[in-house]
Amino acid sequence: MGLIKGFQKFRGGWPGGWRRYAMGSPRREPPSFVQPRNPDDRRSLIPPFGFREYWYPALPARAIKWRKPVGLRICGIDIVLFRDHGGTVRALSNICPHRGAWLSWGDCFWKGFISCPYHGATFDGDGNCVEFITEGPDSKMVGRLKARAFPTRTLKGMVFVWMGEDAEHPVAIEEDVPPEFFEGRESVVRHTVRYWRCNWMISLENFFDSHNFFWVHRNSIWVGMNRYGGRPRTPIGYRARIINNKTVQVVSGANEYYAVNGTIPLQMYYPRVRGWWPKTPLRWTWLWLTERILRIKFLWPKFETPTEWDGTRLPGMQRLSTWNGFYTRWSVPVEDQLTRVFYFRSVRPVNRLDRFARWVAWPFYNFVVHYNFSDQDYDAMQTLSYESPEFLSSTDSYLVMLRKLFTTHARGLKRTVEVAEQTTAEKLQAEADRGFGVEQRSDQAAGANERVGGSVSLEAHRSGIGNGSRRTSTPK
Ligand code: FES
Ligand SMILES: [Fe+2]
Repeated sequence: MGLIKGFQKFRGGWPGGWRRYAMGSPRREPPSFVQPRNPDDRRSLIPPFGFREYWYPALPARAIKWRKPVGLRICGIDIVLFRDHGGTVRALSNICPHRGAWLSWGDCFWKGFISCPYHGATFDGDGNCVEFITEGPDSKMVGRLKARAFPTRTLKGMVFVWMGEDAEHPVAIEEDVPPEFFEGRESVVRHTVRYWRCNWMISLENFFDSHNFFWVHRNSIWVGMNRYGGRPRTPIGYRARIINNKTVQVVSGANEYYAVNGTIPLQMYYPRVRGWWPKTPLRWTWLWLTERILRIKFLWPKFETPTEWDGTRLPGMQRLSTWNGFYTRWSVPVEDQLTRVFYFRSVRPVNRLDRFARWVAWPFYNFVVHYNFSDQDYDAMQTLSYESPEFLSSTDSYLVMLRKLFTTHARGLKRTVEVAEQTTAEKLQAEADRGFGVEQRSDQAAGANERVGGSVSLEAHRSGIGNGSRRTSTPK
């Protein structure tokens, strides 16, 4: 130990001093997820491991080779994926029905069959035990032993798995997977994945929660390229409606609340701290150039999708138009505190050159939108304590609507707690709305063309969040 270190130790508290346990035991992980169990909290009804009675994206098909099975956890359930004799990706329970070893640690010694690493039970794609190697060809386990199979379907290179109880009668996959996945070569869907160490619902609720663009994302590349990037400041939350009991969709917002002569200021003064935010307008130095470049996308036709596929949809996806493409963020529960976040970028190239250009642009788009921008959301929200009581504002109106949809209409919902018709947090949100002269019905908020708060219109909202206007837009 050097002299200085020795001296520091002598000074007391080495290593770390008071900082070492300032937040309790040292940890690199966010706080543990705790499910609320409170009749006055709608989040008590959100299943920590997600809604199982749905199709979920699992893995890119190319990740599954002939010889090695792949284990994967979805909704807290372990499955194993491998290729059957025809090359189709199939899924079985990862737990061997013989004694419970992990099939994913086994091998596909014979093309199309997976063998357990322990006693060699060998299964086909339907989960039938076709050989039991350690018992020899006369084994009586053959035909009797069966591994649980999960229905699968590969679309646009992505394997989807039905996680529901009834494997014989899954809900039609078209109910749960966006329509462009079923289109032909005219549609291209690219994807990427992130892992967020937080509950799937925390990840989902982040999308339209409040207007964190000028705050959480202030140092993102996207902010430097966009005037508002989708979220001007406003004290009034989005009006939303529930479509077909599957989707929550924004119908209007109050993006122009602070507009002066039709222009929303980039910097605003906060008198009670006697300061501006953002502190400097420097990050918008390049707007004159970047906004012009981003406008190019309006030369393309709009990427159309059915209304019920535009918004937040069960069991956990956020869908948003980016004019000439469609953005999907699908929060797949892995465990109660781990979410596999799939990003899908759907486009319909108009010709071969366009197809090529989109391919070239993908890495940049992917980095700017999915990593640089969205990882900031994760950094900000990962410490969220889900069990703490909330004090909601008008800008949490979308959140309230989203939770109502999920705790009322999700398949397989279990009402483990009798939650109040309107919780205290929801009353606070409604109260804040009323403070601005806004009323929100439980199933459908202000009508599409209704003006809210005196300075809001559908067009204003759309110009903000990109449901198809000529302003630039972004997901949160
Ligand atoms: S545990 Fe799988 S064969 Fe015995
Ligand atoms: Fe965000």
